[in-house]
Amino acid sequence: MKLPLVSLAPLGLALALFVHAAPAAESSGKPTEINKVCPVSGKPVNPKITLAYEGQTYAFAEEACRTKWKASRESSLYHKLGGKPAIDAAVEAFYVKVLADDRIKHFFSDINMTKQRRKQKEFLSAAFGGPIPWAGKDMRTAHANLPGLNETHFNAVAENLQKTLVELKIKPELIAQVMAIAASTRNDVLNRPKGAK
Ligand code: HEM
Repeated sequence: MKLPLVSLAPLGLALALFVHAAPAAESSGKPTEINKVCPVSGKPVNPKITLAYEGQTYAFAEEACRTKWKASRESSLYHKLGGKPAIDAAVEAFYVKVLADDRIKHFFSDINMTKQRRKQKEFLSAAFGGPIPWAGKDMRTAHANLPGLNETHFNAVAENLQKTLVELKIKPELIAQVMAIAASTRNDVLNRPKGAK
């Protein structure tokens, strides 16, 4: 299976950009939903300039925006990993390991794991260069109230993520990219100063 993740740069664009636009006819007869703000330029979209990606139609202000957006999706780690189905499967398998790991499972005892899995899928998808920006908490805020959270716990989470990807037979070079992105969250997750080693 392929699996893909990102540059954290585009995380600022919010899901809120996607709103119900004028219904467009589809072969099913159902109205579809498109974004009103171009995800590349931030300008109002031209509803005739669209692109379908993973079942969602995205609209753009200009042709050049569509070209740029398409290229960045297709070159993303997200895409190389296999897109949504691959990320979803990996996060499911990852939390099976986390919840069985005596070093860290206590952190999740009071957590709604259905929500947690969904959020992690959304976060990692965005971080790997998926089409939908992360609209949840930043990593410092999300982990600010976990007493005792330290380096050992972070390493255990990273180990579980790596093992999951190896078991899913993800290519080593892609695993390395995923692990680098995970590592880039370390200081925030552990609530350390930004530049701490
Ligand atoms: C690669 C490192 C990590 C990433 C990318 C990550 C990602 C996330 C995300 C996306 C959320 C949800 C944020 C939201 O609510 O909007 C979250 C919450 C949480 N994470 Fe992490 N996490 C990481 C490391 C850890 C570690 C090391 C632990 C503990 C062993 C941990 C425990 C938790 C818990 C318990 C929550 C739920 C907090 C709450 O709902 O109050 N995470 N994490």
